[in-house]
Amino acid sequence: MTLFWSIYVGVLVTSNLALAIFLYFYGTRVKIPIEGDGTTGHSWDNGHLRESVRRLPRWWAVMSLTSILVAIGYLVLFPGFGNYKGLLGWTSEKQVSEAREENAARLEELFERYRKYPVDKLSDDATARQYGHRLFQDNCAACHGAQAEGGHGFPALTVNGDDGDYVVATALTGRTGVMPPWGQVLGEEGVKDVANYVLSLSNEPHDAASATAGKPKFEQTCVACHGADGHGNKALGAPNLADQSWIYGKDLATVEQTIRDGRSGHMPAWKDRLGEDQVRLIAAWLRHNALEHRASEDAVPVADTRP
Ligand code: HEC
Ligand code: HEC
Repeated sequence: MTLFWSIYVGVLVTSNLALAIFLYFYGTRVKIPIEGDGTTGHSWDNGHLRESVRRLPRWWAVMSLTSILVAIGYLVLFPGFGNYKGLLGWTSEKQVSEAREENAARLEELFERYRKYPVDKLSDDATARQYGHRLFQDNCAACHGAQAEGGHGFPALTVNGDDGDYVVATALTGRTGVMPPWGQVLGEEGVKDVANYVLSLSNEPHDAASATAGKPKFEQTCVACHGADGHGNKALGAPNLADQSWIYGKDLATVEQTIRDGRSGHMPAWKDRLGEDQVRLIAAWLRHNALEHRASEDAVPVADTRP
């Protein structure tokens, strides 16, 4: 607070208090002139109603004095009088940071126990998963979906979510997936052929002749990142093109667009915001979620082309 505002607040507080103190002394001591009949002489309703005088109730005087004393005591102990900091040195920041430290200390006990286990083990612990689920919803669900099912531009974490160490590493450091644009290299016909070949990998509707023409081009241009059979490469962030999970969509036009113009999905880093302890809890829930998802998928007879 600048000196001006400090003085401004000080003057306001002082004049308020002075007024309260004046009213207290005035109210308890004032003598109101009384007529011979014991009233003030004011009358209404043609003299039927007359105003008499009652002493100020004692409870009012006591309450008034108490609140004045409390106000003065408060202003001595706590900040409130301009820049004066108060004898106790209390600040709202200090209170928040103390509460935060207290909370961190309580969490530390919990984390210390969880740190002993690898993520795969943690995912067997219902409490750890519950914490992880909550953290996921607060921090990741906006992009990856409430059940980690993914969305347009955001991969489903039911695919690689069972790999705890991978999830932790990816989430801590973040990642920008670089799918280069191939329109120039392949030409429009080439893009269409390769797109049809990509769709054939997961048995999506495709033009068989075009896919056959695309195969050698795929092997030449795409396997470096997506692998010989299109199963992807987690280390490069190159998704499996042979599963049923799509980041951007499985219609021909979308796949063509991805190949022609490239993509670069950005996954933010969580190291500083959440830290490893919390990310591990999220990974524990994600692993459990991914395994459950897979079990429910396997129950439905679909061609599973995962390795
Ligand atoms: C702003 C949106 C956004 C948020 C929030 C976000 N992510 Fe991501 N995440 C992405 C994108 C985009 C990718 C794909 C990046 C790429 O292509 O390399 C990704 C990729 C991933 C992958 C790799 C998936 C795979 O199959 O290879 C993991 C694991 C992951 N995110 C975990 C998390 C976790 C855990 C959180 C919460 C702490 C989180 N993400 C929050 C956007 C987000
Ligand atoms: C430099 C490595 C690299 C090369 C080479 C590469 N890709 Fe990709 N590809 C990626 C990455 C990384 C992503 C994920 C991009 C993202 O998340 O935004 C991706 C995404 C895709 C997708 C989107 C998948 C989905 O689920 O929506 C398709 C389709 C694809 N690539 C096809 C190809 C084809 C076809 C080629 C060869 C012409 C190719 N890629 C070459 C790295 C590569």
